[in-house]
Amino acid sequence: MALSLDLGTPVNTALLIYILYSVQRLVFPPTSIPSTVPNEFKHGYSWMPKAHPPTVLFRTYTPKTLAPFNGTDGGRILLAIKGIVFDVTAARNFYGPDGMYGNFAGRDASRGMAKQSFDTEMLTPIDKPLDKLANLRPDEIENMKGWIDHFSNKYVICGELVENDAV
Ligand code: HEM
Repeated sequence: MALSLDLGTPVNTALLIYILYSVQRLVFPPTSIPSTVPNEFKHGYSWMPKAHPPTVLFRTYTPKTLAPFNGTDGGRILLAIKGIVFDVTAARNFYGPDGMYGNFAGRDASRGMAKQSFDTEMLTPIDKPLDKLANLRPDEIENMKGWIDHFSNKYVICGELVENDAV
């Protein structure tokens, strides 16, 4: 039986137009860029973010250059434990000026973390050499390492802390 296409039938004409339209959409997909971030598949492929997400540069800090990152200006909050600098900005409620752990913001928090203490003598003045942590007990060192593990799993490591005269 020969297959014949009768375009005279309104249904066939409509189908043909629909097929041509669909093929045209496949071959020439619409490329308009939506003005807002799409939340559905429809525009997913043609969306480009307006800007690159903020990046964090790993860099060297000294006690003096770390100190301004204490969140008092509403900016980034950093703290160091045993030479490792963590970006704790995401936990402004802890480390911001009104936070329970705000004393550690912008500082070398090693000794306070080791001894589980907020006492001011836990913090080495920023113009003095780094705390060598020489007189800590083994269990205090272990406690400090536990905090390093906790912070490493939660925050971005964004630098190292070195002596003021090392850079
Ligand atoms: C009255 C005593 C204390 C209470 C009631 C307390 C309470 C808490 C609570 C509830 C959390 C968990 C917060 C959360 O993950 O949502 C926390 C985390 C923490 N605590 Fe304490 N704490 C106390 C003493 C201390 C002391 C003496 C230190 C000194 C080192 C300390 C350092 C920290 C740190 C560093 C965190 C982790 C924060 C983070 O994940 O960024 N806490 N504390």
